[in-house]
Parts: sequence; C-alpha cells; structure tokens
Amino acid sequence: MRSVVALVCLLLRTSECFLFLSSGKALESYNVDPQKISVSGISSGAAMATQIHVIFSREIMGVGLVAGVPFACAGSVGSFVSCMSAPGLVSVAALEATTTAGAAVGNIDATSNIANDKVYIYNGKLDTTVNPAIGSKIEEFYRHFIPNSNNIKTVFNISSVHAHITDNYGGPCDQPHEENYLNNCNYSAAFDLLNHIYGGNLQKPSATTQQNGQLMAFSQSDFFYVSTPGMYSMDDTGYIYVPSGCVNKRTACKLHVAFHGCKMYHKRIGDAYIRHGGYNEVGELNNIIILYPQTVTSATNPNGCWDWWGYTGALFATQSGFQPTALRRMIHKAAGI
Ligand SMILES: *[C@@H]1O[C@H](CO)[C@@H](O)[C@H](O)[C@H]1NC(C)=O
Ligand SMILES: *[C@@H]1O[C@H](CO)[C@@H](O)[C@H](O)[C@H]1NC(C)=O
Repeated sequence: MRSVVALVCLLLRTSECFLFLSSGKALESYNVDPQKISVSGISSGAAMATQIHVIFSREIMGVGLVAGVPFACAGSVGSFVSCMSAPGLVSVAALEATTTAGAAVGNIDATSNIANDKVYIYNGKLDTTVNPAIGSKIEEFYRHFIPNSNNIKTVFNISSVHAHITDNYGGPCDQPHEENYLNNCNYSAAFDLLNHIYGGNLQKPSATTQQNGQLMAFSQSDFFYVSTPGMYSMDDTGYIYVPSGCVNKRTACKLHVAFHGCKMYHKRIGDAYIRHGGYNEVGELNNIIILYPQTVTSATNPNGCWDWWGYTGALFATQSGFQPTALRRMIHKAAGI
C-alpha cells in the first residue's frame, strides 16, 4: 500500500502525499534566519504563543494572538475564569510585575528582549468565549514593555465569534462553528499577523495561490523527555509546511509557529487548521516555514488545550515547563540552531 502511494506521490507531487509519506519521521532542520522566528495562535494557542514569546523573547521576534489572553494571566495572579470572562478583574499591573519578577530570577528571558518585537492582537466583537475586552488587556500588557506603539497592531472591529479567522474557509463569521473553529470573515488573520510581524511588505495570497510546498508530519515525541512522555499532553505527531522556496535549503527562510486552539488538535479536526488556516499560502509566497505543534487530550486536559493554567504543573509558564521545553527543542531543530 505504502509503496503504491509513494509511486503515485512521485508522479503527482501533492501535499497529501507528503503528509502520508512523512508520518512518524524526524523533524528536519531547515535554513532559517534565527532573527526571524515568530509565533501565533488562536485561543489557548494564543495563550501559548504569548507564553513562548515572553518566556523565550531572546529568540522570538514577533507574536500574533487571535482571541487570546495576556501572558501568565491564569497563573498565580489571575484566575482562568476572569482571564476569559471578566476583564475588569484582570490586573495588568500585577501581570507585568509577575513577568518582571520571573525575568529577575531567570524563569523567563529578560523583558528587554521584548522591546523591539512586533505584536498583533485580534479579538472578535461577537466572541462569547473570551470576552473581547480582554484584547485591550493584552495590548496594555505589551505596551508596558514595548515603547514604539507602531510595533503593536490591534484588530478589534470585526464581528466574529470565537474562532481562527480566515478569508476563504470555515463557518459563517458570526456563528459558532464547533466543527473546527475556523470561520470565514473575508479577512485573513494569518496574513495580517504575519505581515505585521515581518515588516508590512509581505506578498498577499490571492484566491488562486497554491500550497505548492510540502505539508509533512513529524515525530513530536522526539522532543519529550524519555522518562515522562505522558506529562506533555502533546501528540506524538506534529506538522510542518515547508514552502517550495525553502525545500532546497539554499534560501534563508523565516520560521513561524502556529498554535491551534482547544478542540482544534489534529486528532479532532484533521487537516483543517494546518491546511486551511491561511498560513501556508502566506508562507509559500514569502518563504515562511510554518510549524504546527499538536496537543492531545488527557485526564486533566479533556479539550486538548495548550497549557495556560497549569495542568502540566506549576512551571507551565516558565522555561522549565513541559510544553515550553518541548516546543523550544522543536523550534531549535526546525531552525537548525
Ligand atoms: C477595521 O479597521 C480597519 C482599520 O481602521 C479598517 O481598514 C477596516 O475596514 C475595519 N473593518 C471593519 C469590518 O470595520
Ligand atoms: C471581501 O472583501 C473584499 C475586499 O477586501 C471585497 O472586495 C469583497 O466584496 C468582500 N466579500 C464579501 C463577501 O464581503
């Protein structure tokens, strides 16, 4: 079976084939400019994106949050519920103090590394899962660390529900779409955030832009500590989109990590996010490799969320957290650093 598919793949060269052939393989290293590594995500994935950004700010130069929450919001300072539903109870000053204190003891990189970074924040007007006013809290948090206001872009004016927002795929913009949490709002959050992060001159995909690169599976378990593979609530398999311009490794490419949201892990929604989230086309036109780490459900994480409240342990939002350590090793491997 596999060899027949392999033969057909050689003839067709479609990304479905690459996906089939690559499952279980080790993640390769690519030619990546280490100054051009960024992250983004939706919902709990946005929470993980800001965690990875703030924790490893020496290495991450930009972040995009779609329907997210501020860094460390549900840690010692805030509660899970207020971070999502009660912006009035979220003290940004306390979050800033926690962040500064974390940097002082070396749990996270020095916050001076955030100062020149690019930040994109999206919250939909009809979001009933994360109160859209939380977006202003994220903005306030980042303004504390980033003096140049042009580095922070906010999009708060689209009437979308809680979802990752695309311009060509998913349910109607204003209605919950629990099938995969991708909603079509005639607006590509992936393009806008990548364009903001990478300087504003990216080529924008059209309706006919193809994903001509390679969408591949790889072994995520290579990045877990051998003794505690069950502690991560991460899938054995992750995914990566390598644009045609980055396959031969001759051009220095950018690397972007896109984190799915709760109930959006691959075992539940299949390829929807990794193929239709809008990232790959932007990557294809602009030589940005897109890495898609994946969660799985576990007893303490029944919805397959990224850990932003401590289900993997108290160190979840530090450099020693299970998910941050695995994700950093994964990023280093992909970037060859
Ligand atoms: C949202 O604001 C941007 C920037 O001001 C504007 O270009 C866009 O048309 C607005 N979108 C909606 C749906 O109001
Ligand atoms: C989507 O937006 C484009 C401009 O960005 C506009 O030309 C088009 O009519 C819009 N389509 C819908 C369905 O709103």
